[in-house]
Amino acid sequence: MATPRKTRVAVLISGRGSNMVALIEAAKDPTYPAEIVLVLSNRPDAAGLARAAEAGIPARAIDHTTFTDRASFDSVLDAELRAADIDLVCLAGFMRIFTPSFVAGWAGRMLNIHPSLLPLFKGTRTHKQALDAGVRLHGCTVHFVVPELDAGPIVAQAAIPVRQGDDPDSLADRVIVQERRLYPAVLALVASGRARLEDGRVVIAESAPDGALLSL
Ligand code: GAR
Repeated sequence: MATPRKTRVAVLISGRGSNMVALIEAAKDPTYPAEIVLVLSNRPDAAGLARAAEAGIPARAIDHTTFTDRASFDSVLDAELRAADIDLVCLAGFMRIFTPSFVAGWAGRMLNIHPSLLPLFKGTRTHKQALDAGVRLHGCTVHFVVPELDAGPIVAQAAIPVRQGDDPDSLADRVIVQERRLYPAVLALVASGRARLEDGRVVIAESAPDGALLSL
């Protein structure tokens, strides 16, 4: 019997791409249900592009500054993803807002990682937001993407304690460790069909490991 086709994943980045590297590393395992087949950046200077190329993955920039509007950038991006026969898109530090029609075209097939325990602290400077709010737990979230920013159905979260003396950098350093662990675990769940979007809510199979997703 033919082995089932692995989920074909594109990772979208804007910067250093350390979550992207974590996904690439995880996907090297022959039993991993997804393969990273394409990396795209909206910024030609994103350091992650070179890291993807070193790993032998096609990596290209689509420079958003060369487009007159959001819709034309999104339509070129969409065409690239479809030409590469992508099943699932993973946003990994991709710092651009999409048009609702682009998001609709990838509904249930696009994930994002965000550096806070959503629905707290949407947008940018999440570690400063957490410190300003005085929370004692902080962390990261992987969610399906919907048109509203950082508002999509949550697949999984990882938490860290906020310590006396933490500043935004120290929080970022501890949260990113959890991000690099959480995202590959979530991609495996979604790619294998053990987590999916149903009527706007995430359904997770009972066989999915709790421990891999939440940590303190
Ligand atoms: C990560 O912390 C990710 O959660 C965040 O950008 C960083 C990218 O780091 N994403 C967002 O803030 C999206 N709104 P990386 O390039 O090393 O993966």
